[in-house]
Amino acid sequence: MKSERNVAVLTHDRPKVRPVVEGNGKHGNLHTPEQDHAAALPRETRPEVGLSGEHRHGAIRILNAVLADSYVLHTKCRNYHWNVSGPSFLQLHKFFQEQYEEVGSAVDEIAERVRMLGGHPIATLAEFLNEARLTEPAGEPPSSCAMLANLLADNEAVARQLRKDIPQCLDDNKDAGTADFLTGLLQKHEKTAWILRSLLTHQAKPEGATQPQSAKDGHCCTTDAKRPL
Ligand SMILES: [Fe+2]
Repeated sequence: MKSERNVAVLTHDRPKVRPVVEGNGKHGNLHTPEQDHAAALPRETRPEVGLSGEHRHGAIRILNAVLADSYVLHTKCRNYHWNVSGPSFLQLHKFFQEQYEEVGSAVDEIAERVRMLGGHPIATLAEFLNEARLTEPAGEPPSSCAMLANLLADNEAVARQLRKDIPQCLDDNKDAGTADFLTGLLQKHEKTAWILRSLLTHQAKPEGATQPQSAKDGHCCTTDAKRPL
């Protein structure tokens, strides 16, 4: 649940209306699919790409939710880049930088796809936090091993969510373009998760160790993030 600390849970069950065109719910300027603001735009700015307004709005809602999660993940990678310490500092400091750069690029591409569909991406920190399914742990920085475990949990959670979003884009919203775009994103998260699992295996079994590091220190290579069932 989002209220729990350090929990990476993705859910589409929250009955919220996302700002598919402009603004956010807190300011009362939400647009429903029936209020297709883009349809009122001049022809040169109105997307006529074979998607109805309702289908475009459906895809935009999904993209904005993925955007919020990606922004939280991007911030978490920066956090870990700045706050990592320990014997693997140099390696992990660089690794976390690579991660926030990659996720940062994805954030940009997701937001621009929302614009391609005639919508506006959510773009304030308050909206990102409100819309995101991933959570941000508060308090002291975790151990370097827990940082890796947290990022693994987040990448896998996003991958699981994307597997639900992709058929929704394709079947419900008839948007093969967004489905393909999200499939590319899914593959990136799968690859990152594989890298993180490999790093954790190395971290958990240092040379000469007879048992996993996590069993020795009681916290290494554990994540506070619960995996959804
Ligand atoms: Fe830096």
